[in-house]
Amino acid sequence: MKDICPTVLPQEVACAEVKAPPCGLVVFGASGDLVRRKLLAGIFELFRRDLLNANFYFLGCGRSKFSDQQYRADAGAVMRESLGEVSQNFMSRFTGRLYYITGDYDDESFYKSIAAKLIQLDRVHNVEGTRIFYLAVPPLLYGTIVKGLGVAGLSCPGLPGCERIRLVVEKPFGRDLKSAGELNQTIQRHFTEPQIYRIDHYLGKETVQNILMLRFANVIFEPVWNRNFIDHIQITIAESVGVEHRGGYYDKAGALRDVFQNHMLGMLALVAMEPPVSFGADHVRDEKIKLLRCIRPLTAQSADGDFVRGQYTAGLIDGKNVPGYRQEPKVDPASSTETYVAARLFVDNWRWQGVPIYLRTGKRLARKDTEIAITFKKVPHSMFISAGLSDLPANMLVMQIQPEEGISLSFQAKRPGSKVCIGTLRMHFSYAEVFGGEPPDAYQRLLLDCMVGDQTLFTRQDDVEVSWRLLAPILQAWESQSSMPYEYQAGSESFPQADRLIESDGRKWRSIFEA
Ligand code: BG6
Repeated sequence: MKDICPTVLPQEVACAEVKAPPCGLVVFGASGDLVRRKLLAGIFELFRRDLLNANFYFLGCGRSKFSDQQYRADAGAVMRESLGEVSQNFMSRFTGRLYYITGDYDDESFYKSIAAKLIQLDRVHNVEGTRIFYLAVPPLLYGTIVKGLGVAGLSCPGLPGCERIRLVVEKPFGRDLKSAGELNQTIQRHFTEPQIYRIDHYLGKETVQNILMLRFANVIFEPVWNRNFIDHIQITIAESVGVEHRGGYYDKAGALRDVFQNHMLGMLALVAMEPPVSFGADHVRDEKIKLLRCIRPLTAQSADGDFVRGQYTAGLIDGKNVPGYRQEPKVDPASSTETYVAARLFVDNWRWQGVPIYLRTGKRLARKDTEIAITFKKVPHSMFISAGLSDLPANMLVMQIQPEEGISLSFQAKRPGSKVCIGTLRMHFSYAEVFGGEPPDAYQRLLLDCMVGDQTLFTRQDDVEVSWRLLAPILQAWESQSSMPYEYQAGSESFPQADRLIESDGRKWRSIFEA
């Protein structure tokens, strides 16, 4: 296959970022992993790109004891590790806006102290109005903190201007339909839907947003984006990492809850939904939900017929021995939690009737690869049959989400040689080659959108409920079965039972090395 380089015309229109308004960001779980690995770096990058307002502060809240000075030093050190060299002066200008308050989430007086501190910080940093409460804590604490904020009068639902008081909730949004409903009810006692920002970080990825641009900012794809031209779609999130230090959480979640219910169904919705009227939050989210509602309902039988689950055993990744899932820290040695899911779904509407959508996600696979591959139908008749070319390969459009962000389109073309010498060529757009470097991390996008008050890339309550309702029969079936997931060796690309799911339809998974 040969790559053909694209020509990109400079397009400056609409590229200017909107700058954040004055804002106070209050983060619960501020000494935790998510904040240290992602949020601080995301905010710092906004600061470096001059997108953060000069009137900004960050108040970290948590049980660990830190003074402001200690927190600033710790945050500075963590950020240097992930961001490389940053001048001391520049870093101090940023860390000078960080504050920390210690307390117990169960203690009402903690929220009163936070309220008092916020009045003081609003004055010092000249912030009025926009205040964000970010829950970077285990989901078990969501209810306690939300109630604490409500009782301390910090949530102000229904009051004029209350949309500027926002609550950011990290996934998982519940662990099934019932718990998601309860969580929504708890939150909605103190915050209204326009105040709630449910983060699914996949939607903040540049290349995931690019699905919308590719589909709806071009005219050439829409006429072929349907059952008449598309044979099937494959969506893959393959990871080479294991459960890392999150065994305790993961063992209660599994791949279906951790990635499939949110990131995978989110990508499926963007690929398959109808064109929204505008790029406005509710127009986009209405279409996503309409699509999710069209997915053919699953049953207990689907748990074995249309879904396959796997669990990794010890193996070799990048030349290193890695333990099996059941040997990971904080994982039950007899665990039946799945670390791999493959599924076949159908969307029952006019556009997609009969087009299978295959999805797979797994940890400890041979390589990191997130992509969406659209395989078109083959030509109805080959005019090159006399030269032995009766079965011409189908066109394929691949949206590569990570790690090599880009888009490629493969097609057949004349190659030098005999008169009927035909080969598959690939027209490839590489994000790194064209724009240089890696795209900004998803958290930068989402934090900025939250400050600006744009909910387009955040998950709405009905979206959460539709996706849990869809998966309920699978969760129930797997929980009630005594059988274990199939085993696959860490470092493998797939395993026979997952292959059979697609091969029984006469198709094959794309290799995760094909990216
Ligand atoms: C998270 C999951 O939501 O997404 C993790 O909890 C997973 O288990 C991660 O590793 C994958 O995200 P990314 O951005 O690395 O593809």
